[in-house]
Amino acid sequence: MNNDLPSLRYGRLIGVSLGPGDPDLITRRGWTALQSDARWTYPVKKAEERSYALDIVVRAGLAVPADAVELVFPMTRDAVALAKAWARAAARTAELLAEGRDVAFLVEGDASTYSTFRHLARAVRELAPEVEVETIPGVSSFAAAAACADIALAEEDETVAVIPAAYGVSVIDHLLDEFDTLVLMKVKPLLDEVLDLLEARDLLATSCFVEKVGSPEERVVKDIASLRGEKVNYLSLLLVQNPKRARGELRRGCRKRAAATEIGTVATTAEEAA
Ligand SMILES: C[S@@+](CC[C@H](N)C(=O)[O-])C[C@H]1O[C@@H](n2cnc3c(N)ncnc32)[C@H](O)[C@@H]1O
Repeated sequence: MNNDLPSLRYGRLIGVSLGPGDPDLITRRGWTALQSDARWTYPVKKAEERSYALDIVVRAGLAVPADAVELVFPMTRDAVALAKAWARAAARTAELLAEGRDVAFLVEGDASTYSTFRHLARAVRELAPEVEVETIPGVSSFAAAAACADIALAEEDETVAVIPAAYGVSVIDHLLDEFDTLVLMKVKPLLDEVLDLLEARDLLATSCFVEKVGSPEERVVKDIASLRGEKVNYLSLLLVQNPKRARGELRRGCRKRAAATEIGTVATTAEEAA
C-alpha cells in the first residue's frame, strides 16, 4: 500500500484494553493512551450502534473526541460479509495511521484475549507492514468475574482452562476431568446444554454465571439452574469448579517449594514472596 509515498510516516496502532466494564479497571497506561493525542477508534456490531468499549470510557467521564471513528465488526457467520467488513476496518485504520497520528483502538476486557484487536493489527500490517503495534494489557472479563463472584480461578497447584463454550458439551465434559476450574466464554448459545451437563455431573452448586461484569447491568448468578430457558446477554460466561477432580502427582511446583520454605530456605522464601 502507498508504494508511491516512500516517505510516509505511520502513527502507531495501540490496542487500549479497558477492562470488562468498570472504568476503575482501566489501567494507568490505558488512561494515558486515552488522554494522548491518539485518534480513537472503537468497535461496533452495526453502523451507528452503541459500542460497549466506548461506553466504558464514557462512564469514566471522558468526552468522546469529535473525530473518533467507529469500525464495524458484524456478528455474522457469513464468511463473505465478515471478510468484507474486516478488509474495510483494516483499510480505514491504515488510512488513519497514514495521517501520521497514533490510533488508539478501544478494547473491552483485555486486548490479547479473544479480542478483535490482534486480528485487526495483523490485517493492518498486511496493508502497511511498517506500522508499529502496541498492546496495552488489561483486566479480562473472567478475572473480574472471579473477583466479583468471590471465588479463586486457581489456587496452589490447581489447573484452569479458558475456552469458548462452542466446543460443545462433550469437550467440556472431558475438560472437567482435566481442570479444576473451567472458564466457559461465549456461553450464550449453549447455556441450556451446558446446564444439563453440569447437573448430570453434580457441579451446579460449584458453578457461577456472570453477565456484563463491571457494567451497570452486571449480574452474578450462583443458582445457575434458574437460568434454564433464559436468553442471556452475549457478554456472559460461566465459571465452573470441579472439586472432585482426580489429581495426578506433582513432580515439581507449589508443594515442593512450600516444603522447602518450611525448612527455612531463604532463597525460596524470597522467591515465594516476590
Ligand atoms: C470476544 S470475547 C472478548 C473477551 C475480552 N477481550 C476479555 O478480555 O475478556 C467476548 C466474550 O468474553 C466474555 N465477556 C466479555 N466481556 C464480558 C463481561 N463484561 N462480562 C461477562 N463476560 C464477558 C463473554 O464470554 C463474551 O462472550
